[in-house]
Amino acid sequence: MERTLVLVKPDGVQRGLAGEIIGRLERTGLQIIGIKLMQISDELAATHYGEHEGKPFYAGLVGFITSSPVVAICLEGPSAISTTRKIMGATNPADSAPGTIRGDFGVDMGRNLIHGSANEDDAAREVSLFFNDSELTSYDRATQPWIVE
Ligand code: RTP
Ligand code: MG
Repeated sequence: MERTLVLVKPDGVQRGLAGEIIGRLERTGLQIIGIKLMQISDELAATHYGEHEGKPFYAGLVGFITSSPVVAICLEGPSAISTTRKIMGATNPADSAPGTIRGDFGVDMGRNLIHGSANEDDAAREVSLFFNDSELTSYDRATQPWIVE
């Protein structure tokens, strides 16, 4: 089973869209195995967005992600990474298809509502950055056979 790290970014929480965003992900059948509201520290932001250090938008990105709480979620299921990225939409909401989270609720690159891990290596690194083992659960759902063959 694949795992991915999702963040409802500060704009999503401030705009009251956390429930809508989580609901869209939950309805795919992917399973929530960890979830919490948290304030991202400067140190965590720098580690999480380390790949973007030195880029012109880096300071704005770190300032934004630390400006207000986020909802961190670990989702598990088949193709959890790519399914989540599809539902998120393209990075720039101006290019995101209608029906995606960013396409439906965003208009600006710097306020794109949601983060989702980009690939398996990033997902493993990001899940362990945001969640201790004790914060990740393992449980059976009665609906599982109706979701995964
Ligand atoms: P994220 O990491 O936030 O899930 O977004 P992403 O994979 O779709 O995009 P990524 O390339 O990782 O960029 C991280 C965030 O930086 C901002 N950004 N601004 N002005 C720019 O050229 C630019 N490029 C990226 C976006 O807010 C993006 O979500
Ligand atoms: Mg990214």
